[in-house]
Amino acid sequence: MRKIITEEQIAKKIENLQKLIKNQKYDYVICVLNGAYMFFSDLTKGLDVNVDFVKVSSYVNTKSTGELNIQYADFGKYHGLKVLIVDDICDSGYTLKSIKEYILQAGAELADTCVLLNKKEAHSAENEPTFYAFLIENEFVIGYGLDYNDKYRTLPYIAVL
Ligand code: IMP
Ligand code: MG
Repeated sequence: MRKIITEEQIAKKIENLQKLIKNQKYDYVICVLNGAYMFFSDLTKGLDVNVDFVKVSSYVNTKSTGELNIQYADFGKYHGLKVLIVDDICDSGYTLKSIKEYILQAGAELADTCVLLNKKEAHSAENEPTFYAFLIENEFVIGYGLDYNDKYRTLPYIAVL
């Protein structure tokens, strides 16, 4: 396991993201479970916003299955509202793209996206997140919410497995 991002580096980036988010006046900030739970908790701490949760999965081992399985969501409640969708990482970008489409189809006015990690050259420009904290190489990473088959989520830093 090779550590690539420390707890301190994460905390610093989150402070910057909070400043950007505060200016946008979102009605809801939405956590994509499970991977985003730790990032989302730190990101929204102290912010004056409503929070909500969706639960999806697409990964088995270290590969995306390419099929998004929505286990819990209530997209209808975002009708007419501005939302920010928060995930752990943008890899192919398919997860965020799909969730965003569902939310806009349900009548949301705006659906921006925010991730902790943005994988270099793993997705096309149209799937770029609105905000991200770190640009990383196209490697499988774990920690700070990210897992390998549900292991390593509680590590306070990011490492390459
Ligand atoms: P995408 O749909 O390909 O962008 O993948 C996004 C989802 O796959 C994220 O929400 C993560 O849960 C998971 N994922 C993608 N890359 C990694 C990784 O390197 N480590 C752990 N999970 C990952
Ligand atoms: Mg995820």
